[in-house]
Amino acid sequence: MKSWKIFICLLAILLLINSQSAQSQLSKETDAQKVQRMKWWTEARFGMFIHWGLYALPARHEWVKNRERMTNEQYQKYFDNFNPDLYNPKEWARMARDAGMKYVVLTAKHHEGFCLFDSKYTDYKSTNTSFGKDLIKEYVEAFRAEGLKVGFYYSLIDWHHPDYTIDSRHPQRQDDDAMYEKLNKGRDMNKYREYMKNQVRELLTNYGEISIIWFDFSFPGKNGKGRADWDSENLLKLARSLQPGIIVDDRLDLKDVEGGWDFTTPEQYKVEKWPEYNGKKIPWETCQTFSGSWGYYRDETSWKSPAQLLELLIESVSKGGNLLLNVGPTARGTFDHRAQDRLSAMGDWIALNSRSIYGCTEAPAGMYAPPNSLLTYNPVTNRLYIHLLVWPMGRLDLKNMADKVKYIQLLSDASEVRYTVGRDIAANDLTLTLPVQKPPVEIPVLEVILR
Ligand code: GLC
Repeated sequence: MKSWKIFICLLAILLLINSQSAQSQLSKETDAQKVQRMKWWTEARFGMFIHWGLYALPARHEWVKNRERMTNEQYQKYFDNFNPDLYNPKEWARMARDAGMKYVVLTAKHHEGFCLFDSKYTDYKSTNTSFGKDLIKEYVEAFRAEGLKVGFYYSLIDWHHPDYTIDSRHPQRQDDDAMYEKLNKGRDMNKYREYMKNQVRELLTNYGEISIIWFDFSFPGKNGKGRADWDSENLLKLARSLQPGIIVDDRLDLKDVEGGWDFTTPEQYKVEKWPEYNGKKIPWETCQTFSGSWGYYRDETSWKSPAQLLELLIESVSKGGNLLLNVGPTARGTFDHRAQDRLSAMGDWIALNSRSIYGCTEAPAGMYAPPNSLLTYNPVTNRLYIHLLVWPMGRLDLKNMADKVKYIQLLSDASEVRYTVGRDIAANDLTLTLPVQKPPVEIPVLEVILR
């Protein structure tokens, strides 16, 4: 073969290898490797979401700029008055830890475009406000010091950036489709895509180990935005290359791309059963607010009770999932008293009952769930947890469980729960004798040591 032919052949082979590795870069991992990478997250079960930005000042929803169709000029007063003088992330971190949370995700930038970190690529950042500090830096250090894994939320949507094209979810959205083209003249999404990559590089380079990146969100279709608008694959490759262990949500519009996401994110609702994709159960995390809004909302009154919130956590674990529970700090940088009350109530429960949460998952088939109860199961210790949402009066039957049970105790005080086998029901049934009064915990748990 002539040497130029050999050269061309080699070149072709090289190009082929190169293009294949670019394609497979997102899916290099086996299922077992993914399980391993996500192990800490799966066992943690409970995390804190924090939505904080300029929208804490209007205090009427983080979408206020959009809802009220404000221009950048109209929104500017919140930047000018941003000064969270009571910001003390060590206190936030302590409250998260005491509530039983094992990881945290903070909005480094939300849809409004304001950056809580000292980005080189914008002036629209906390260091340029009268407060003058990189809020992310202190946050990362404080939460790490309390032993929580640290993550960032990063909004794909940006209502401030001059190159971000106006779309159906933008404050300046239009009723007349023809207007979009006119308004977007001169806006260059190429520049915005570059901006996002630069910022993701900053966030995943300048703050040590980052365990989660939560991109939000895609809305493909007419006047919408999806993977091509974000250059999702390359954004994700960048994130993974900078932080190989990082765990990523599923809002980049890469659901059908192998390796394009790690977990799914049912928002503000309870799943009916463990979510699946292509017939396989998948990792999932429900994100939820205490009330309705993610950002601080002064006048909102629909706050969930501690019992409801605990039920949400337990029910998530009972279906194999996580709960990411949101706090919207005030514009002074504090958690308001309603959030504090709920966090501490959850912490009181967790302090005595965490064994039924951490490392736990859906109970194996064949385990009996009494009425008004939720089951979780720890596969390592082989213990079953029965959460009694309504306290029974004295007697509780566990059907078809006698051959499975070795010992039962109340989790909160490790007091024995006595039972008889096949008393007046079927031979393999258990009849438990419980105290008539509900034990002094929000949701009592029976710990069943299995054979
Ligand atoms: C939604 C909202 C947003 C919030 C997020 C949390 O996508 O746009 O405000 O940050 O949900 O999951």
